[in-house]
Amino acid sequence: MNEIRQIPQASVAIQEGRIAFVGTETEVMNALNGAEILETLDARGCLATPGLIDPHTHLVHGGSREHELALKRAGVPYLEILAQGGGILSTVQATRSASEQELYEKAYQSLNIMLLQGVTTVEAKSGYGLSIEAEQRQLRAAKRLSDNHPLEVVSTFMGAHAVPAEYKGKTNEYVDLVCGMLPQIAQLRLAEFCDVFCEKGVFTVEQSRRILLEAQRNGLLPKIHADEIESLGGAELAGELGAISAEHLLAASDKGLGMLAAGGVIPVLLPGTSFNLGLNKHARARDMIDKFKLPVALATDYNPGSCPTESMQLIMMLASLNLKMTPEEILAACSINAANAIARGDRLGSIEVGKQADIALFDVPNLAYLPYHFGINHTYGVIKNGQAVVW
Ligand code: NIG
Ligand code: FE
Repeated sequence: MNEIRQIPQASVAIQEGRIAFVGTETEVMNALNGAEILETLDARGCLATPGLIDPHTHLVHGGSREHELALKRAGVPYLEILAQGGGILSTVQATRSASEQELYEKAYQSLNIMLLQGVTTVEAKSGYGLSIEAEQRQLRAAKRLSDNHPLEVVSTFMGAHAVPAEYKGKTNEYVDLVCGMLPQIAQLRLAEFCDVFCEKGVFTVEQSRRILLEAQRNGLLPKIHADEIESLGGAELAGELGAISAEHLLAASDKGLGMLAAGGVIPVLLPGTSFNLGLNKHARARDMIDKFKLPVALATDYNPGSCPTESMQLIMMLASLNLKMTPEEILAACSINAANAIARGDRLGSIEVGKQADIALFDVPNLAYLPYHFGINHTYGVIKNGQAVVW
């Protein structure tokens, strides 16, 4: 992750949305060998990186939760607010009462913000509907967003995000319902991934296993919100299932991290969440990278509760501050590793010949400047699929 190749005075040639050549300006001009150039974009003085990829968000939802701010500041824990029927469940109410068009329009605004941050691809989870109809409504909105917005939206079904009020005390019955939703989600191609909030008081390891095995049977790749608050064994489960990614991992054990490595699971770290929840605890990124050789990815976790921000540039700063990641590691974590966390590593996540031309341009003198000069937006331009969508 520290071996990022940097090219001073670089040029990229793009043909039909794909990267045709990359190198120094002279190399690229030579490679073009007099071929006709239809358009030139001059980003002299900028840093060009792969378009950033945000591989973990709860993009589509109704409402917001600033009314819980006072409770949070009074020290009421996140899981306690949820247990009282607030938290995720309050967003479930707001989402259930929103139309598909309202969900679409709200999320569209968030995608605009993400794009201006230099993000070109985003993963979006359902999980605020918690009924067949409302989950599908969220996923349909995400699909339409992907069709209509310059950003690519990749969908994850997360029916097991919380136990809805009507199933309170009947978690196993709700797990049956979630398993029952999977065949139709798969058949309608509404999601590629399935995620579960494996946490104390939410879904146990056994319940998570049942859902994710059923997801695999239906052709969806498993993801797990694992060991965020308590060390339950979510990382171990991710390793056992060969999940594509495991998320949060603040409380993951050494055994769990070893199993992630053995199972080829990508840890997706969400430093914005621990920051916003005011936790003094952080995911052990250094151990993951140095000891376990894990390809760490970073994401916003954008959601109305634990992390209301669309800013990947803030996440970069927090990864430096709290996860002690280097600028090179941070860039790898927001690009190629993030692409692999959403099964797009063959097409996205690096500026390489043959890959889709998704490029972010930042008005910064060097890579370290990105996590260093914080709280402002450094984006100068964004190229998605060969098109300058921000300039
Ligand atoms: O990833 N941990 C569970 N889900 C989200 C929070 C969702 C919410 O609070 O609305 C997360 O942090
Ligand atoms: Fe999340």
